Amino acid sequence: MNTRRNFLTQSVAASTGVFYIAKTSWAQKSPSDTVNVAVIGFGGRGGSHISGYRKLKNEGVRIAALCDVDTKVLGKGVDAFDQDKLKVTGYTDLRKLLDNKDIDAVSIATPNHWHALATIWAVQAGKDVYVEKPVSHCVWEGRQMVKAARKYSKIVQTGTQSRSSRKGIASAVKWVHEGNLGKILLSRGMCYKRRASIGKSEREQPVPDSVNFDLWCGPAPKVPLTRKKLHYDWHWTWNYGNGDLGNQGIHQMDIARWFLGEMELSPSVWSVGGRLGYEDDGETANTQLIYHGYEKAPMIFEVRGLPENKDSKNMDKFKGAGVGVIVECEGGYVVVPNYSGAIAYDKDGKEIKKFEGSDDHFKNFINACRSRRVDDLNADILEGHLSSALCHTGNISYRLGQKEKPEAILEKIKGDTFAADTFERMKEHLAKNDVDVSKDKLTLGPVLKMDPKTERFIDHDAANEMLKDKYRPPFVVPDEV
Ligand SMILES: NC(=O)c1ccc[n+]([C@@H]2O[C@H](COP(=O)([O-])OP(=O)(O)OC[C@H]3O[C@@H](n4cnc5c(N)ncnc54)[C@H](O)[C@@H]3O)[C@@H](O)[C@H]2O)c1
Repeated sequence: MNTRRNFLTQSVAASTGVFYIAKTSWAQKSPSDTVNVAVIGFGGRGGSHISGYRKLKNEGVRIAALCDVDTKVLGKGVDAFDQDKLKVTGYTDLRKLLDNKDIDAVSIATPNHWHALATIWAVQAGKDVYVEKPVSHCVWEGRQMVKAARKYSKIVQTGTQSRSSRKGIASAVKWVHEGNLGKILLSRGMCYKRRASIGKSEREQPVPDSVNFDLWCGPAPKVPLTRKKLHYDWHWTWNYGNGDLGNQGIHQMDIARWFLGEMELSPSVWSVGGRLGYEDDGETANTQLIYHGYEKAPMIFEVRGLPENKDSKNMDKFKGAGVGVIVECEGGYVVVPNYSGAIAYDKDGKEIKKFEGSDDHFKNFINACRSRRVDDLNADILEGHLSSALCHTGNISYRLGQKEKPEAILEKIKGDTFAADTFERMKEHLAKNDVDVSKDKLTLGPVLKMDPKTERFIDHDAANEMLKDKYRPPFVVPDEV
C-alpha cells in the first residue's frame, strides 16, 4: 500500500513536470498476453468495474491494482482480493500507480472533477483508459482528453455502457438513420430519477479520517466540506459534480445525440430550471429543461428529481419512459426505456419493431486494447466528450440565468412548440409537488450561441469563462497534452 513518504515523493515529481513519459507497454506485448488493469476510485460505481474485469478472467484480464484515496474503501477492496487469494497492489495516490510499468490499462470511477486529469496522466504514462461518464467536468478538458488519446495512440473508452447495446439501441439508431420512420423531428432525453434532499448542515463538516482530502479534491477547489456526506453527494455541487444532467442524464444525452447523428456541439443552447421542493446543501438543479438547437432537429433534455406528486414515491413517465430517450420522427417515434433496447411505434402509437440486446462494455474495451483500433470501441472518448459537453453547456446557460416568472419564460420560448409543451409539462409536474413557480422559483438561462469548430461561445465572455475550470496546482490539466 502507498505510504505517506511515497506520496510526498510523487507530489514533488509531478509538480516538476518530469513525471510521465509516454511509453506503450503494449508495444512489447502480444495480443494474447494478460491485460493488467487497475481500478481507480471504487466507492460506488468502481465496484462494478472490479466485478466486470474479474468476470473476464478467462480472457486474460487481471486486476493488478486498486486505488482509492479513502483507505477504508481501499482496505476493503484489497481484503476481498486477499480472501480470494489473488494478488493486488493497493494505492492511495494514482500518480504512484501510474508509475507502475506493469499496469496496461486503468479504469477510472472517481468523482467527475478527476476524470480528465487522471485520464491524461494515464495515457501519458502509456496506459489505455476506461473512464466513467461524464468524461469531463468542463467542456475544455474533454477536448484535451481526445487530443491526448490521439497523440499517445491510446484506447480511451467512455463509461456510457448503452453504447454496447449493439443489437438493441445501436440497431435502432441504424434503423432510424436508414429512414424507416422518415426524418427526425426531435430527440428528447429524459432523466426522471428521484433525488431527495441531501440535508442541510449548519456548519463545516468533518472529513472522514480515512480520506486523503487533498487528493480527493485534486484539481478542484479545496474548500471546507459543507455537506453531510463527502462521498456521492458531490454530484450536486458545482466544484465536483455536474448535477443529474451530468450524472444519470449524460447516458440519455448520449443516446439522444447518437440518434441525431451529430458529431459537434450544438450551435445554440439554453436552459431553465431550479433546485426545487426542498432546501439543502446541494447547488445543482433538480428540475431542468435544456434545449440544444441543432439545425436538422433539436434536442430537448428534461431532468426531474421530484416524484410524480408530493405523496408518491413513483416517478413520472412520458410515452413509456422515465429515464430514457424518445425520438420523434415524421412517421412515428422510438422509445429507449433502458440501457439495452428500443421500441419503434407508428404515429398511432402501435408498436412496429423491437430492438433488444447488450454486449459487455468492459469486454469491448479490452478487445480494443488488444486490437489497438479506436474503431473497435463502442464509446470512444470523442463520443464521451461531445455528450458530456452537451451537459456542461446546458448547465452553463442555467448558471448564467436569472429568476423569471413563468409567463415571461413562456413568452421567450413560445416560438418553439416542442419547448413550450415541455415547459408546460414541467410546470404541471412542479405544481403536483406543491412548487408554485409563480413565486420567483425558476431560473432561465440565456440563449448561448456556440462555434462548434472552436467549442467556444460567440460573444459571451462569462459563458466562455465557464468552459474551463481553474485547476489547483499541482493537479493541473495541461494546455499542451
Ligand atoms: N456508468 C454508470 O452507469 C455509472 C453509474 C454510477 C456512477 N458512475 C460514475 O462513476 C463515478 C463515481 O461515482 P460514484 O457514485 O461511485 O462516486 P463515489 O463518491 O461513491 O465514489 C468515488 C470513489 O472515488 C474515490 N476517489 C476520489 N478521488 C480519487 C482519486 N484521486 N483517486 C482514487 N480514488 C479517488 C473516493 O474515495 C470514492 O471511494 C462518477 O463519475 C459517476 O458519474 C457511472
